[in-house]
Amino acid sequence: MPTDLNSTYGLSPAHSEVVQACAQIAPGEVLDMGCSNGRNALYMGQRGFQVTAVDSNPNAIQMLQAIVAQEKLTNITAQVYDINQASLAADYDFIACTVTLMFLDPARVPTVLRDMQAHTRAGGYNLIVCAMDTEANPCPVNFPFTFGPAELERAYAGWELLKYNEDLGTMHNGARLQFATMLARKPE
Ligand SMILES: C[S@@+](CC[C@H](N)C(=O)[O-])C[C@H]1O[C@@H](n2cnc3c(N)ncnc32)[C@H](O)[C@@H]1O
Repeated sequence: MPTDLNSTYGLSPAHSEVVQACAQIAPGEVLDMGCSNGRNALYMGQRGFQVTAVDSNPNAIQMLQAIVAQEKLTNITAQVYDINQASLAADYDFIACTVTLMFLDPARVPTVLRDMQAHTRAGGYNLIVCAMDTEANPCPVNFPFTFGPAELERAYAGWELLKYNEDLGTMHNGARLQFATMLARKPE
């Protein structure tokens, strides 16, 4: 059995939605947008994906690069990138963006989503998990960006929604927070 690199390097397990998505997506080229120090990138790399992991935090990228070098991983590349630029340079079979969109400039989010969609190959997948702010459940955290009801679903009109929900979650401090969770497939 391969070593669990997440536990070797003291990282949390991969996001549960990444784990579930990987169970139904064949390994290919994946972009991990807002990878932090790499819990999802390492998991997907170990599942056989060719991973590009990006984050605007150079320290997080350096930490992931150190793990990649230490473990001689040839299928993970980590680089500093500001997602607000919405200027992806390559196409992917899968783009995962978990709990990251809420830190972006709200004015840039629609363009970021369009750029993700444009750089997903036909038949490829986007996974998004992002905080929401709704009348029923005002967001208890002052994130720069949150989705409104059905806003993410509308942004993916024409894609096949393999999973979509706006469920309530509980934060470590007990506060209730609504998340938009989506796994969508681009038409062939
Ligand atoms: C809560 S962490 C989520 C990390 C990871 N996706 C996960 O599921 O564990 C949010 C990450 O988004 C990154 N981030 C925030 N704004 C960003 C931006 N404009 N461009 C790239 N990364 C950004 C932060 O540096 C941080 O690593």
